Amino acid sequence: MARLLFACLFLLLILFQTSNCKDTNPCAPSSCGSQTISNPFRLNSDPLNCGNPLYTLHCEKNTSTVLYLDSRKYYVQAINNDNLTIRVVDAGVKKNDCSSLPDFSLTYARLGNSRSAHGMFSFTSTRSLDYVSYPYTWFQYKKTGLEWLPKYKPRALSQMMVFINCANPVNSPLYLDTGACLNGGKYSNVSLLIYSYVNVGGMKASDLIAKCSLERMALLPVNDYKNMSFKEIHSLLEYGFELSWHSSRCGRCANGCYIEDSNRTHCIGHCSIEDQAIIGCSW
Ligand SMILES: *[C@@H]1O[C@H](CO)[C@@H](O)[C@H](O)[C@H]1NC(C)=O
Ligand SMILES: *[C@@H]1O[C@H](CO)[C@@H](O)[C@H](O)[C@H]1NC(C)=O
Ligand SMILES: *[C@@H]1O[C@H](CO)[C@@H](O)[C@H](O)[C@H]1NC(C)=O
Ligand SMILES: *[C@@H]1O[C@H](CO)[C@@H](O)[C@H](O)[C@H]1NC(C)=O
Ligand SMILES: *[C@@H]1O[C@H](CO)[C@@H](O)[C@H](O)[C@H]1NC(C)=O
Repeated sequence: MARLLFACLFLLLILFQTSNCKDTNPCAPSSCGSQTISNPFRLNSDPLNCGNPLYTLHCEKNTSTVLYLDSRKYYVQAINNDNLTIRVVDAGVKKNDCSSLPDFSLTYARLGNSRSAHGMFSFTSTRSLDYVSYPYTWFQYKKTGLEWLPKYKPRALSQMMVFINCANPVNSPLYLDTGACLNGGKYSNVSLLIYSYVNVGGMKASDLIAKCSLERMALLPVNDYKNMSFKEIHSLLEYGFELSWHSSRCGRCANGCYIEDSNRTHCIGHCSIEDQAIIGCSW
């Protein structure tokens, strides 16, 4: 009897160890409404050992999956496992209501290397991307260049739009009038008339005209926004923008990683990211 017990314990120990060694996530995927949440994502109601705590989502009323970025609320529209993206919409943006605005400003700085947002390769520091601070990024690295001289370029998944309020009407191709959507709406003030504009991706700080102020920044899907009306742009705000969660795969890489088309993870090498971008050094 004692022997049998011992044998059983031994077997259990082996089973336990092998399951531990495989380092696979033992948890079955969760769901929130029709959205399946699988590793590295987890719901806050899941056991702590499920998924990666950096990728915790919330479920509201079993219908809406919510991502909090800096305690700011975004509704999850889709999680794509093939290209490691998550599509989200700011909680303030309402369907078919072009007067609804993002509740918060979201900038590239919050989503990985802010320097790369402006001059793509005008890095000034050798600090590489810290995947713990930036579990979500607005780009994915893509390998370009020759096979033996790889370079890594951040490819944008989303682009910036800015909301601008002006004290006087502005006539500039950079300033798209929001029409009835915002003018006379939310910002209206009987004693202070405000003219409301947006710009997608084409503005420098120096383009801000006197008596205009930058109200808010938001992200949009990558698209050609030339000639689009504000209503059309708003419908893309409602569609949401993609963020990458490829950093979840960079765990063992000191300098970040990229995912090959074959789904293999490659650490970006020992040299700094700017070296890789410019001279294309490798691991
Ligand atoms: C949540 O919704 C899904 C799909 O609509 C359903 O299958 C599931 O039973 C619901 N779960 C709870 C706890 O209500
Ligand atoms: C890609 O690789 C990851 C980890 O190695 C794996 O979990 C995932 O299922 C793979 N995805 C595809 C589409 O093969
Ligand atoms: C990722 O996959 C989704 C679903 O197939 C697709 O809509 C989206 O455009 C893809 N994003 C990228 C950056 O490839
Ligand atoms: C309207 O603008 C005036 C002048 O700036 C300000 O004092 C007042 O609080 C504003 N009212 C509202 C409702 O925002
Ligand atoms: C925008 O409109 C102008 C004038 O109608 C046209 O010449 C131009 O080709 C359009 N651009 C795009 C990207 O559709």
